[in-house]
Amino acid sequence: MNRIRLGVNVDHVATLRQSRGTRYPDPVLAAGLCEMAGADQITVHLREDRRHIQERDLRILRQTVQTELNLELATNEDVLNIACEVRPDLATLVPERRQELTTEGGLAVSGREALIAPAVQRLVDAGIRVSLFINPDIAEVQASARCGARQIEIHTGFYAESKGTARANELARILAAADEGARLGLSVAAGHGLDYTNVRAICACPRIEELNIGHSIMARAFFVGMKEAVREMIDVMTMAQNHEPAR
Ligand code: PXP
Repeated sequence: MNRIRLGVNVDHVATLRQSRGTRYPDPVLAAGLCEMAGADQITVHLREDRRHIQERDLRILRQTVQTELNLELATNEDVLNIACEVRPDLATLVPERRQELTTEGGLAVSGREALIAPAVQRLVDAGIRVSLFINPDIAEVQASARCGARQIEIHTGFYAESKGTARANELARILAAADEGARLGLSVAAGHGLDYTNVRAICACPRIEELNIGHSIMARAFFVGMKEAVREMIDVMTMAQNHEPAR
């Protein structure tokens, strides 16, 4: 069994930098440390409002990332053009609202294929693998496959926020969506709201190949350092993958 891949989202480093308009802390340096600690992918979100990651960060990361660079973006003309030019290894289409604190909910793909499919095609034509960030919903998985995506990233935010039966139900939805993705030949990733505890049940899902995690790793890095925070997450994921009973 392959180890679940870890993509580390370094947006928060840029958020801190932008809050004071300084040159530091540098998300590019953070990305290098994450890779040295074993991260399999570096993820950044170039938002329309440029609240954290800047175009310059993306361009430098394209040259420095040694693993894989995953660019999260909305179906926005300006950012799509930049993506096609910079050509990250992976582009993840996400919904974006200006007022939100972070990405809220998955992309509505089902019923909006006429909007999403051309954006996917543009990225594919530029040689970029495309992932769609969707809620754990079978119809969304099937619509993602119809749009030409090679990967889905299942939104785990509602799972992370809920408790008890609601959490168990959400986990079941995630597992079913992952199964459907695998059945359709899609790579399956997951992410949002995952931390050092709630990540365990997700890792026990044999269909999930990759996780994208930002907030919890960056928060821990404040106290233990970036490399240690990434290493600890990889350790928790590996242990859970091997020992947690699959549900
Ligand atoms: N995956 C996607 C598509 C996201 O937008 C985010 C947040 O930027 C994450 C994963 C990571 O979420 P978190 O910061 O809660 O770990």
